[in-house]
Amino acid sequence: MNDSLSLRNRLNTTVRDIPRSGIRDFFDLVTTMKDVISLGIGEPDFDTPWHVRESTVFALERGATHYSSNFGYLDLRRALARYVAKTFGAEYNPENEVLITVGVSEALDLALRALLNPGDEVIYHEPCYVSYRATILLAHGVPVEVETRAENGFRLTRAMLEAKVTPRTKVLMLNFPNNPTGAVAPLSFYEHLSELAERYDFAIASDEAYSELWFDEPPPSALQVRDRSRVIVFQTLSKRSSMTGYRSGFVAGDPLLIAALKQLRPSIGVAPQTFVQRASIAAWGDEGHVVETRARYRAKRDLLLPAVRAAGLEPAGGDATFFLWCRTPGGEDAEACAERLLARGLVVAPGTFFGAGGEGHVRIALVPTLAECERAAQAFATLG
Ligand SMILES: Cc1ncc(COP(=O)(O)O)c(C=O)c1O
Repeated sequence: MNDSLSLRNRLNTTVRDIPRSGIRDFFDLVTTMKDVISLGIGEPDFDTPWHVRESTVFALERGATHYSSNFGYLDLRRALARYVAKTFGAEYNPENEVLITVGVSEALDLALRALLNPGDEVIYHEPCYVSYRATILLAHGVPVEVETRAENGFRLTRAMLEAKVTPRTKVLMLNFPNNPTGAVAPLSFYEHLSELAERYDFAIASDEAYSELWFDEPPPSALQVRDRSRVIVFQTLSKRSSMTGYRSGFVAGDPLLIAALKQLRPSIGVAPQTFVQRASIAAWGDEGHVVETRARYRAKRDLLLPAVRAAGLEPAGGDATFFLWCRTPGGEDAEACAERLLARGLVVAPGTFFGAGGEGHVRIALVPTLAECERAAQAFATLG
């Protein structure tokens, strides 16, 4: 046996068996191609707002370069509590109901590791963000998918949930506004699920990475439910403030759940860099740039939507995030449609990358520049 093969056999089997993500392979391939417009990946093309960059530089210049508490600056936790109060009208105590995290990615990992015993089940709805399954497996949980459909607004129903709940169900993962479908959920949905969480004894983990990117009206948050004893919400600056590289987010929830995360954090992770935490105070404290960001995504959507429709791709998702979730013409396979568009220089993500429920759909991300969106609109228009 050659050396690399024998090493492979000695790897942690969960790590070894994580399938390579189709979406990552696809986008790696696409970066090697010339003259294509990428509407594929969920990365905002906008610069981080100037006042946030300025705060980063000031923080670095003023010595915010040392170790900080594992739980993050209290100033930042206070800023987060103010943000939650202003945006969702919910009071959270910065001392014990909020934890700063390295984006939603770390928050998810922390929460699942803190909650799961080996063999505990995590229900999540798909089509969904590609990382959930692996994160559940790495926390020794059992992923339990529920396929959602356009006719239910891509939300799971009580019947769908009850068909999957078992005594091993520990967590229900939610993601609204949803990647990839753009679907949103009303507050009554969260209230209803929090009652079911009580009845069946599970926690609700709500990924709200896109809560501020909406076109119609601001979506509610699981932070607003009456009984939040089983609720934990993840938030990030990645999308709201175009800060994907900063890696800054937070978790808010019941003090018991937050205490469990705090207990775990020093053993497996660290809070974001001190200068990133300083910059994060500036970012969460300002809504002006978010209003502008929404307007800029709207301009791209207004440009692309008619051309996408003319190409026979019918929007079938919700009215939030920066994704257009479209049905393929005449029930064409998702991957065949993506390949056909790629041949015209348009990179979109086949819906099947996000789960079996994504068949017959493609996800179009409003992330290229406005000028590129104009070119993309022309290319879509020629397909009709
Ligand atoms: C639904 C969803 N959650 C979480 C993330 C990752 O968030 P973060 O950058 O804060 O780790 C993404 C990124 O695309 C996402 O789409």
